[in-house]
Amino acid sequence: MSIFLGIDIGTSGTKTLAIDERGRIVAEATELYPSYHPKPLWSEQDPEDWWQATIKTVRAVVKKAGKPGKKIKPGDVKAIGLSGQMHGSVFLDKQQRVIRRALLWNDQRTAAECEEIEQRAGGRRQLIKLVANPALTGFTAPKILWLRNHEPRNFARTVKVLLPKDDVRRRLTGEFATDVSDASGMLLLDVARRTWSKPLLSKLELDVDLFAPCYESEEVTGQLTREAAEALGLTTECKVVGGAGDCAAGAVGNGIVSRGTLSTSIGTSGIMFVHIDEVQVDPAGRLHTFCHAVRGKWHMMGVSLSGGGCLQWFRNQLCQAEIAAAKKSKTDPYSILTAEAEAVPAGSEGLFFLPYLSGERTPHADPDARACFIGLTLKHGRGHMVRAIMEGVAYAMRDSLAIIRELGAPVEQIRASGGGSRSPLWRQIQADAFGQPVVTLNAEEGPAYGAALLAAVGGGAYRDVVEACNATIRVVKETPVKKGPAAAYERGFPIYQQLYRSLKNDFKQIAALSS
Ligand code: XUL
Repeated sequence: MSIFLGIDIGTSGTKTLAIDERGRIVAEATELYPSYHPKPLWSEQDPEDWWQATIKTVRAVVKKAGKPGKKIKPGDVKAIGLSGQMHGSVFLDKQQRVIRRALLWNDQRTAAECEEIEQRAGGRRQLIKLVANPALTGFTAPKILWLRNHEPRNFARTVKVLLPKDDVRRRLTGEFATDVSDASGMLLLDVARRTWSKPLLSKLELDVDLFAPCYESEEVTGQLTREAAEALGLTTECKVVGGAGDCAAGAVGNGIVSRGTLSTSIGTSGIMFVHIDEVQVDPAGRLHTFCHAVRGKWHMMGVSLSGGGCLQWFRNQLCQAEIAAAKKSKTDPYSILTAEAEAVPAGSEGLFFLPYLSGERTPHADPDARACFIGLTLKHGRGHMVRAIMEGVAYAMRDSLAIIRELGAPVEQIRASGGGSRSPLWRQIQADAFGQPVVTLNAEEGPAYGAALLAAVGGGAYRDVVEACNATIRVVKETPVKKGPAAAYERGFPIYQQLYRSLKNDFKQIAALSS
């Protein structure tokens, strides 16, 4: 029997999934860890936590999959695919020790470094020409410049900069390697040619040896070392494939591997992702253009930094009684909140929520943007607030969809995924806000499943990624558009868009108060 593992190094935790050669899920395990926010809008994690979570979840999965009746032996695990939160920076010294906590994708400290990069590149247009994207605070290159500008001693010790999943790979295989989809988010890759951009690296005075060699996502990058095999309870025969950034891995897990397919994914962030056959760049730099985890293909995507994270924040800060009640009755606090939101009409009776809890990336690229409820009256209750949050996140996804449509990329089928899309109400709100049905799939596991499929391709179970997706993923349900609510959102969306424009300068002043 052949088993393939997908390991997703996420922001809230690491999830490991085992599949068999037909793509059926055999076992899964998740281990959580903290993020650190030493200053407003800073966001860091300890790479050691990712490694410990990897060991724990792989061991748990092998144990679960090895229960009587299933009979899976460690040697059956033929290959591992890694997926991970993108853009994070692991700084390593000569002895491969981690120099400081990693800065994450949602860290917003690097506005000055983004300006520095654009200047050194010869302007924003020139930068987009070199690496297909503008400088955004979440990307990796500005983090490296931040280290050089603010912690020069740490920078002087740095000999390698790795992405989160690639640091786990180093500990698994002893090899430095990355894949083209994740590398695209470093702002240092010539995305069209799928190789490091030497011209940009030289303008930034960064040595190419700071970075790992780039592989395609299903290519084998190494095998487990003896120590790693022992730690995980696997064998040294087990291969590790390139894997993918969590967006591209999630897209593979949703079968977004052909023209016209898109996914809307509401996890911590909110991502609108479209597969493209030829490299295409948004000249205004609002959408990202990255290499896809499908060989020779690309994708564009818009990223809202706070998607499901908005509802999670609301629940954690304002719904302690519901959390306690749900624990007692063994239900989910979100189902209590969603039921309240369901009773409120579409449009939340004039209440809007701007979901900019961590600033915003697409389409504003503005670390100073702030979240807010606008339009509150005495009539509004908590159900309105929950619904307004769901609608605000759906509008943010529509912002990205509108740009994709404007650029002329074909939009034929939108597949809903992520924790947020498991809620029928949030799915309906999305279909209505997009004015286009959304479909759901038999596969609900997102990036970890995509990473496991990449491992299955690298391990020889499928010829390529498209064949793997066609064999395993199918549409099971469609959420059609409801006319009345869709009309309400058609009226609400321009107001939502105008609110940011009206508040943009105020956000700057507000942000200055807390910096
Ligand atoms: C993508 C992005 C996030 C992280 C977190 O550009 O920043 O989706 O990958 O998962």
